[in-house]
Amino acid sequence: MPKFTRTLVTTALPYANGPVHLGHLAGVYLPADLYVRYKRLKGEDVIHIGGSDEHGVPITLTAEKEGISPQDVVDRYHRMNLDAFQKCSISFDYYGRTSLPLHHKTAQEFFLDIEGKGIFTKKTEKLFFDRKADRFLSDRYVTGTCPICNNAEANGDQCEQCGTHLSPLELINPKSKLSDATPELRETMHWYFPLGRFQEALEKYVTLHEDDWRPNVVNYSRTWLKQGLNDRAITRDLSWGIPVPLDTPDAVGKVLYVWFDAVLGYISFTKAWAEEQGSSERWKEYWQDPQSRLVHFIGKDNVVFHTLMFPSILMAWNEGRETERFNLADNVPASEFMNFEGRKFSKSRNYAVYLGEFLEKFPADTLRYSIAVNYPENKDTDFSWQDFQNRTNGELADTLGNFIKRSVDFTNSRFDGEVPCDCTPQEWNSLGINWPEALEQLDLAFEQFHFRDAVSVGMDIARAANRFLTSSEPWKVIKTDREAAAKAMALSLNLCHALSIALSPVLPETCNKISAMLGFEGTIEDRIAAGSSLFDQLLLPQLKAGHKIRANSEILFTKIEDSDIAPELKKIEALLAEAEKREAGAAVQRMEFKPVISFDDFGKVDLRVARVLSAEKVKKAGKLLKLQVEVGSETRQVLAGIAKHYTPEEMVGKNVVLVANLAPRTIRDEVSEGMILAVEGADGKLFVLEPEGSEINGQPIQ
Ligand code: MF3
Ligand code: ZN
Repeated sequence: MPKFTRTLVTTALPYANGPVHLGHLAGVYLPADLYVRYKRLKGEDVIHIGGSDEHGVPITLTAEKEGISPQDVVDRYHRMNLDAFQKCSISFDYYGRTSLPLHHKTAQEFFLDIEGKGIFTKKTEKLFFDRKADRFLSDRYVTGTCPICNNAEANGDQCEQCGTHLSPLELINPKSKLSDATPELRETMHWYFPLGRFQEALEKYVTLHEDDWRPNVVNYSRTWLKQGLNDRAITRDLSWGIPVPLDTPDAVGKVLYVWFDAVLGYISFTKAWAEEQGSSERWKEYWQDPQSRLVHFIGKDNVVFHTLMFPSILMAWNEGRETERFNLADNVPASEFMNFEGRKFSKSRNYAVYLGEFLEKFPADTLRYSIAVNYPENKDTDFSWQDFQNRTNGELADTLGNFIKRSVDFTNSRFDGEVPCDCTPQEWNSLGINWPEALEQLDLAFEQFHFRDAVSVGMDIARAANRFLTSSEPWKVIKTDREAAAKAMALSLNLCHALSIALSPVLPETCNKISAMLGFEGTIEDRIAAGSSLFDQLLLPQLKAGHKIRANSEILFTKIEDSDIAPELKKIEALLAEAEKREAGAAVQRMEFKPVISFDDFGKVDLRVARVLSAEKVKKAGKLLKLQVEVGSETRQVLAGIAKHYTPEEMVGKNVVLVANLAPRTIRDEVSEGMILAVEGADGKLFVLEPEGSEINGQPIQ
């Protein structure tokens, strides 16, 4: 008995705040689609649930920038992304929206259930408030100077320049993005989810899966668990979002935090799917029957939300329940990132190829193929136009397309468009393909999410088929031995059929065309719906003598000419040149000196030579090292934003230049009593200044 009788596949809900790009497709939507299409091929019960994440601050920011409503923003991108996914043959069973009433209701039900059990805690904190706009400012609405790198345009949650995660309170000169006013601190109360309460259960959960989850998924989760899980705020002071469903005064103006709301979309969209199927309770089979397998496809930046946060929300729901308990994910195949022409996709820099745009110029299957063979399973990979052209022209057009066309055309011209004879299992197994082995490899590859392997097994069959047809030369042999030529064609047509099945997860449109050319009625999806496990059909030749094929063939892949991709390459050049200019501009700006100061002014700065005694990383501040430095008779603690450039070990023993009379500052609950001097070199690399000399510790620098 298999452990699971059905599978629920979910894909990360893209923010309806911009178009999805090829990086999203590569990491999440294509792998999920390959997986569900494969499962369907085996005749298994599987559904694929996804949709738009329509709340969150970036959406309201876009709306304000464009002078439209948040609803307009999400309507636009929901439609755009859904349309792009459809054009790309991503076969969702349901594609929902978190702005739907059913979703609001579901998220509120979860909130109330957990609130009713007294699991949430409430905390009052001080938050920035914009008096002009009469609103609390969530992190993203505050900007100011980064305390680590002095970037004047750091966001309240993170500095884009040095990457440090910040809280708005850490910004120097904070400003409201709404009005430019300096915000004031006001008290506000929020609901917190006590992740720590589930620490042990989550540790067990991760350990249970340490062998079947990808190493990066286990590692990210363990890093969080090791640091100890803290309370997480799950409400915000915003108007766009799901209202906290309580009539108490403290709930006024509060909405659920977008992450608490978004992950529950998986559940509410399954409910919406069930309603659409006309059996509104059926969603429970997929979520609550222990024989259902839950699989989340996500990118690596979303791991802990799916391995710790969402499971703990479900654990909270399950607490005290005997029935209606939710399953936790059985696997969370998180991808690494796919880069584009050697650089990271970046929405803010407009360095991206958007899915919808791409599909206006090139067919979906060629894209699906190129991306599948570059699937970023355990390391970042790269998509390039050159590779796309090579694979389309070589593997798809020359190998696969050509084989199918030759087989169909020759059968039509010389054998009246009929499979000329039967093939025996022995003949089927003498083609240089070990079918049982190939099927097992295919099965393992798909089931373990090794999608590059899965595609290469399929393409190996295409190559073997091509070799077989070329070497049997039926167009020559037919002159002397019609029977041998007939056998070669019967086998070739059966190979066409096998390919139309084995490659259908990655090339659904093409395989439907092959299936039609071979004389089948209806699509592969129709044939699956009619009840057969097409996958098992690969073991034996399926087309019998006399089977009629279609009278004409069609070209499956058009070759991509250099002139087709030239404009695309030009576009990248322009984008890269722009980026370079920006970077060069930054260098020139640095040469604009600060205003002149007096000798006395400079004299106020007390620079000293200090020695680093010890160094360690600061938790949750990836850029910061905490240094203990010896300066003369004193020991000082200094925080320095150099963790990306020096390991703690490298710093110990170094002489450094300390600004010794700088007012102390608190960052991340740690006090920094001074600053050490460093200079930025190429690519943003920092070099700490290291004075040399003997017996110089504690000496002033003048
Ligand atoms: N919209 C978020 C993102 O793209 C979260 C997606 S995952 C879900 O990163 F769990 F919220 F669905
Ligand atoms: Zn910074």
